[in-house]
Amino acid sequence: MAQFSYSTESPAKVKADVVVLPVFKGPDPGPGVKDTGLDRAYAAAKLTGKTGENLLVPKRSGDRFAAGAVLLVGAGERKEFTVTALRKALGRVAPSLARFGSVATAFPLVFPGDAEAAQAAVEGLALGAYRFDRYKTKKDDAPKGFSKAVIVGDVVAKTGRDAVARGEVIAEAVAWARDLVNTPAGDMPPAQIAREAQKMAKAVGLTCKVWSEAELKKGGFGGILGVGAGSVNPPRMIELSYKGAGNRAPIALTGKGIAFDSGGLSIKDAKSMETMKDDMGGAASILATMKSIALLRPKVNVIAAIPCSENMPGGSATKPGDILRHRGGKTSEVLNTDAEGRLILADSLAYLTEKKPKAIIDAATLTGACMVALGADITGAMGNDDELIAGVRAAGQAVGEQIWQLPLWKDYKQHIESSVADVKNIGNRYGGAITAALFLEEFVGDTPWVHLDIAGPAFAEQPNDLGPRGGTGVPVRTLVSFLMDGSTK
Ligand code: BES
Ligand code: ZN
Ligand code: MN
Repeated sequence: MAQFSYSTESPAKVKADVVVLPVFKGPDPGPGVKDTGLDRAYAAAKLTGKTGENLLVPKRSGDRFAAGAVLLVGAGERKEFTVTALRKALGRVAPSLARFGSVATAFPLVFPGDAEAAQAAVEGLALGAYRFDRYKTKKDDAPKGFSKAVIVGDVVAKTGRDAVARGEVIAEAVAWARDLVNTPAGDMPPAQIAREAQKMAKAVGLTCKVWSEAELKKGGFGGILGVGAGSVNPPRMIELSYKGAGNRAPIALTGKGIAFDSGGLSIKDAKSMETMKDDMGGAASILATMKSIALLRPKVNVIAAIPCSENMPGGSATKPGDILRHRGGKTSEVLNTDAEGRLILADSLAYLTEKKPKAIIDAATLTGACMVALGADITGAMGNDDELIAGVRAAGQAVGEQIWQLPLWKDYKQHIESSVADVKNIGNRYGGAITAALFLEEFVGDTPWVHLDIAGPAFAEQPNDLGPRGGTGVPVRTLVSFLMDGSTK
């Protein structure tokens, strides 16, 4: 990732290979455009300030700007422009900045006095420029990507620098979550996820314990073991803790860590399996969230227990009809081995409730049904505490990650009643996101809890404003924002 710095220099004076400026519709183009004399160039190019318009103006003798070039970026109506739009606008142009060594942007000047805009500018540039090319052998034809970026704003230097530093921490963590997801399952089995977690924990000073298969057996984690039973790659559970608030009750996090979801014996078709390396996206997002808060140090305690299994149809696999005994003793009847996420989360949720946390949040690529309900970009939220759900949704709204609440409709519990065990792992044909959440609810007791179904948003099938096709790092930015705010309460 590029190195970011903060400056209060005027856009015309800032030195970089290229400076990126917004242009709005209407008579007042945007900060820095008239100062650089570029309002006329924009008009001469017959551009209007619409979102999606770009004009690159290389410097010629007599030009009134210090940078080597100016990139004017259409930003739409000024009164509709938000910090979320700023992040996206910079994300959208970031790939085209790859051939420059150093870039600058004065986008934050659109929001006078707002340090969040500087943070969002970092996130937009860094995430938009993200690439996953570790497995490409021909690298020379692609430009390296900018190595330095200056964020121009109007808040005092210390405030601006802190905002830029926050943006760097978060963007770096999101990029790491993406790397974990994008790495093929063949190279990222449960034990490897655990090693990545340990390496991260050591680097940022978090406590980390990895539960081995034998320890999981002893501890009664029948869901994690049952799902992993058909794979040659044994399961793990990663336990992390961060202390920022003495002995106060922690916030607890968990995330679905299915290294690969073949469906198990209830095997998926080839097409549905193509992206199933992403089924540890929840786990990756919790790891990246823990990394972020270890560096940002909010005044809150956070613990995480992340179950990692690989769902494969090997000879020792769990079979439809089998009954698993979860941590804490509850049993579940497995009628479809492809509904495996809830089986491993049952164990980690039960384990986390033992720690008497203030609240539990889980993130999981849990159901295709949630994608049917909300589309590929929106996270589904369900839980037993409306205030907690509202808080998480508000955090998402603030950082531009969309989260919508679905009802945890109690009457649907009848669909997961089992004739032989405490609960069964599938419902009927409809409302699959809800019956999955109702299954999870069985394991949280009365702890306030919210479940985030990220089956859609964890993985972008198409490139979007904030990155290429692949892992997105959703909902890291939401969770970090939520935990940073929680530090004052
Ligand atoms: N990992 C999948 C859910 C998923 C689907 C994530 C598509 C991302 C994209 C999950 O384990 C699964 O297979 N769910 C089943 C549940 C069903 C068998 C009750 C599903 O959604 O079809
Ligand atoms: Zn799955
Ligand atoms: Mn599955």
